[in-house]
Amino acid sequence: MTVKEAVRSRHSVRQYQNKPISAEHAEKLQKLIEEYNAEGNLHFQLIQNEPRAFDSLLAHYGKFTNVKNYIALIGRKSPDLEELCGYFGEKLVIEAQQMGLHTCWVGGTFSRVPEAFHLQADEKLVCIIAVGYGENQGVPHKSKPPETVVKTEGSLPEWVIRGVKCAMLAPTALNQQKFSFAVDGNKVTAKAGLGFFTKIDLGIVKYHFEVGAGKENFEWK
Ligand SMILES: Cc1cc2nc3c(=O)[nH]c(=O)nc-3n(C[C@H](O)[C@H](O)[C@H](O)COP(=O)(O)O)c2cc1C
Repeated sequence: MTVKEAVRSRHSVRQYQNKPISAEHAEKLQKLIEEYNAEGNLHFQLIQNEPRAFDSLLAHYGKFTNVKNYIALIGRKSPDLEELCGYFGEKLVIEAQQMGLHTCWVGGTFSRVPEAFHLQADEKLVCIIAVGYGENQGVPHKSKPPETVVKTEGSLPEWVIRGVKCAMLAPTALNQQKFSFAVDGNKVTAKAGLGFFTKIDLGIVKYHFEVGAGKENFEWK
């Protein structure tokens, strides 16, 4: 499965099969986590066979079943931590999808199990990503019309249209899609709107835009 195919077929999955992540897939995820931790100066951790985070009323309210594995998105507190977690977290989500795993970003409907992960004094757990083999594939979300999230002078080049289309497929908290792009030549600005988790959403959406537009076609401003 290509990255673009994974972006198109990914949906949040909240019901999982009662089976552990295979050693091969766990090792692949672990390697990617180490790579992104080094690149983004982050402290993401893969947590396996830990059912307690999704054992509360809150998790049942969120309709989660059999979540026993998740990636804890942790990093040193800083103004851009949320966006970095969104960007590198979504790279992991798409790579998991390519392996045949399923995922769901979770910012609210889980319980923190402090003994399950390592948190230094200056670090923060931003949110988690549930991961495992889904009971289903999830369903496509509703989207805003793409033209409502992009500002430009004149007509839009093909690569911007591709980037925005890919951004509309991105997961956002409560499917809020509170982001916007402004294009000026080959410079693109992405902005987060107001609301819960919109800075995480921004990092996620920027990764999707890069996949659709092609990094070689533009620069972030
Ligand atoms: C930052 C973030 C936090 C989220 N938190 C939750 C959550 O607490 N509970 C939940 O059930 N889904 C959560 N989601 C999943 C969204 O509801 C889901 O991505 C959105 O409805 C779009 O659907 P899709 O992922 O299937 O495309 C979260 C998504 C993001 C990006």
